[in-house]
Amino acid sequence: MLPQWTLERKRDGQELDSGEIRDFVLSYTRGEIPDYQMSALAMAIYFQGMSPRETADLTLAMMESGSVIDPGRIAGRKVDKHSTGGIGDKVSIPLAPLVAACGATVPMISGRGLGITGGTLDKLESIPGYRTGLGEEEFIRTLERCGCSMIGQTAEIAPADRKLYALRDVTATVPSIPLIVSSILSKKLAEGIDALVLDVKCGSGAFMKSLADARALARTLVDTGRAMGRKISAVITGMEQPLGRAVGNALEIREALDILAGEGPEDVRTLVLALADRMLALAGVGPVDAETKLHDGSALETFRRMVACHGGDPDAPLPRSRRQIPFPAERAGFVSRADAEAIGRACLLLGAGRCRTDDAIDPAVGLSDLKKIGEPVERDEPLCVVHSNGHEDWDLVARLISGAFGIGDGPVDPPPLILEQFEPGEG
Ligand code: URA
Repeated sequence: MLPQWTLERKRDGQELDSGEIRDFVLSYTRGEIPDYQMSALAMAIYFQGMSPRETADLTLAMMESGSVIDPGRIAGRKVDKHSTGGIGDKVSIPLAPLVAACGATVPMISGRGLGITGGTLDKLESIPGYRTGLGEEEFIRTLERCGCSMIGQTAEIAPADRKLYALRDVTATVPSIPLIVSSILSKKLAEGIDALVLDVKCGSGAFMKSLADARALARTLVDTGRAMGRKISAVITGMEQPLGRAVGNALEIREALDILAGEGPEDVRTLVLALADRMLALAGVGPVDAETKLHDGSALETFRRMVACHGGDPDAPLPRSRRQIPFPAERAGFVSRADAEAIGRACLLLGAGRCRTDDAIDPAVGLSDLKKIGEPVERDEPLCVVHSNGHEDWDLVARLISGAFGIGDGPVDPPPLILEQFEPGEG
């Protein structure tokens, strides 16, 4: 079948056959179908959508465009977590060693930040020496020794997604549920896992701004993963305000270390423990009281071992910015808003994120000591501390931070952290 016949069929709202989807994806990966035809298919999918069967076929074809780690090569119950991305979301960093300390194996392939949302790989690389680019053999060895390993997508894993994601980024076809689902699951299911928990973020600092969109994405992720024979569940969590009190790469590693030491911000700890419970239950490990592993030092010890296996120095000081500038509140009251999107933009301008995929990031900069919605604040008390190396447009950063915060006269309830949960098979 000629590629343009597939394009015509999808353009006109017909359902594509399994073989047709597979041929298109594999030919595109080999360079036999050019970017312009793949772009046209992505746009047709954006407008026409895909049936659950087509979405599963697309995911399978993208996963099989590269190497798939044989689950038999990794010992134990293998479970992972994926977040759709948010501001201050450092959850994976304490979660993977915590779940490993509880007895499961966590092979985690993470991404970099793009735009205002941070990426686990960039955060880990602020640890001196930490290598995120392990090959398959070293990844498997690290899993055997530490129970967890956190790496980046290798050239071999889901190459169709690598090519297609770059194309979607420049053809306005990123926000399409079948394309997001196949992109996420093709990479995650190539890790050789038995089970996966998805954290679908919802709110101003997330990809999905409305609960209806977050629900549709969560449901399609769960249904597609299930159709592909994996145990999978999802939670929808709030992203109206940043998670925790720090945004920025090394700043978030410090906060993750606090969580591993049984301390740190309440919202991060609550989410880490909720996700750990779900991962352990899905993987069939337990019952285990994950919280005890934060207090007895075993999760922290697992993290330190993993850092060392990745070539990092767990005792080396983290990068620190030249200046730390408290940002004062203009009036007293209660924090009514701490807009995640504006705070993410301020951090991007400070140098914590990238505007283009090949930009360098500054690991030391960002915001810490962020006030949370509902907290009281005095006039001139800091709403946050800005960590700067002096490369930003300060007026713009200051405008973003001051516009991000609202201060009201009366007490305000903090927004809910966990909005909804989706189990396999739930409608
Ligand atoms: N994350 C991915 O890996 N792919 C998408 O399409 C969106 C978020």
